[in-house]
Amino acid sequence: MTYQNLLLEQAEPGIYLLSVNRPKALNALNAATLEELQRAAAQVAADAAARVLLVTGAGDKAFVAGADISEMQSLTADQARAFSEKGMQVMAALEALPVPVIALVHGYALGGGCELAMACDWIVASDRAVFGQPEVNLGIPPGFGGTQRLTRLVGRARALELITTARQIKAEEALAIGLVTRVVPATELRSAGMDMARMIAAKGPLAVRLAKQAVQRGQNLELSQACAYETAQFALAFATADQREGMQAFLNKRTAQFNGR
Ligand code: CAA
Repeated sequence: MTYQNLLLEQAEPGIYLLSVNRPKALNALNAATLEELQRAAAQVAADAAARVLLVTGAGDKAFVAGADISEMQSLTADQARAFSEKGMQVMAALEALPVPVIALVHGYALGGGCELAMACDWIVASDRAVFGQPEVNLGIPPGFGGTQRLTRLVGRARALELITTARQIKAEEALAIGLVTRVVPATELRSAGMDMARMIAAKGPLAVRLAKQAVQRGQNLELSQACAYETAQFALAFATADQREGMQAFLNKRTAQFNGR
């Protein structure tokens, strides 16, 4: 599959690396890029051998500096609704991927860029990353899920403070409020992401998918229903060869060789 505004490669077997690639516009998300992101998510979703997706931005200045302002400036309200709906679909498609999706954020992750990072399962930031929802500077609220995902990640008060002041925060503050899970030196961001991806890729792939599904679906359920869902996922794993291999390997004191069946 070919892309104009993205780079999608398999860095190693099962480990996909997706870069938004419009560095001259600090990787701003225009309609064409959103369309391609949706296609890229579908490509990864269709690959049964996929293990992890890393999402990043090309160039050294930005992850993604937001939705494309030059394209948005002349939108009518109806067109803006369609643009927002498209962005929401893209974020939902990334979030729904069956494998873990990790955002590797260096430089600016603003507006739609912060929203893209938050649609990933977790964020690893470089020590030079900057996060923010600066939409109110432009006379609009966030439109790709920022009001909702930021609130779920950092709580209502912090989310509203950041969104209504448009204050930009550095990686350390993002770590302190739980927006990112780790901060690493800028030069080590890619290798830290790859190390994490390799750790995940070495585990039982069906177990990883079952666990992600349980966490995601369970979040929107009442606790007893969510735990019943976890029980169902747990039981499903016992119908796999990977479960037998994983447990035999432990008992025989050797490394498990999972085959995803
Ligand atoms: N859309 C379109 N173009 C953008 C852009 C964006 N979001 N962000 C940066 N660019 C472009 C600039 O226009 C500039 O292009 P030219 O070279 O052709 O002039 C180029 O990228 C480099 O940017 P700057 O010269 O501004 O670089 P800087 O280092 O001085 O500043 C910055 C960097 C602080 C990130 C600044 O570019 C900036 O504030 N960008 C906009 C951030 C923003 O407001 N994002 C939210 C957008 S709205 C949104 O995302 C809505 C939503 O929720 C869906």
